[in-house]
Amino acid sequence: MILRKLSSIFISRCFIRRAVTIPSKFCDRVNISAEKGCDGEELNAVKSRISGNLLVSDNFISEEEETMLYDEVRALLEKRSYQNEHWDDAIHGYRESEKESWSKSCMIVFKRVKEASFDSSHTLLPYVHILDLDSKGFIKPHIDSVKFCGSTIAGLSLLSPSIMRFRHEKFNRVTIDALLPRRSLYICRNAIRYEFTHEILPPELSIWNGDIIGRCRRISLMLRCKPEENSVKAT
Ligand code: OGA
Ligand code: MN
Repeated sequence: MILRKLSSIFISRCFIRRAVTIPSKFCDRVNISAEKGCDGEELNAVKSRISGNLLVSDNFISEEEETMLYDEVRALLEKRSYQNEHWDDAIHGYRESEKESWSKSCMIVFKRVKEASFDSSHTLLPYVHILDLDSKGFIKPHIDSVKFCGSTIAGLSLLSPSIMRFRHEKFNRVTIDALLPRRSLYICRNAIRYEFTHEILPPELSIWNGDIIGRCRRISLMLRCKPEENSVKAT
């Protein structure tokens, strides 16, 4: 299982503070906002770190492919029940699994994900991580363990849109929200993967440009690479 390093400072902050001002668009699917008092230098430091390291690709899979992937994970997930709140857990309202062998048609989709997300220097973990969030489920801010996961994480979103929020460990007055539409692919690499916490917001906080996005049950399929040997964490 992929271990998640929780950042307790960020957990308490993300639900309490509300002083987001200066909205600025990074690209269609990424909104950046900075707290009052946050200077341009801090904002630029964050922007330069996300540049090229956070990508969202809409309609990466078709409706038919989404159904096919869902059909293939459903039985596996239904063997488990959703886990409920625990003070130390990174995720609330979830069940998860890992799957190594897939039908040929699913493998074709994963091949496309690999080509879009990884390069020849990466060795992928052999299994796909499947995470099923129920309609109220959410993931608290954390950084994936560097022991088990390398510089790139690629995720497909099934069944529901969601918002993935990022905060830099140091420049934490800047909030980066990525809208992950249903059937999209997101890619996090280098600085965004190592220096920023990421989280999936609960439904009531899943607001995009003022509109509630209607987060419901969401399944993500994540491909990760192995930690690079002697890796210098490239930014
Ligand atoms: C995780 C995680 C994101 C997602 O499982 O560590 O951050 O898209 N998941 O479900
Ligand atoms: Mn994670």
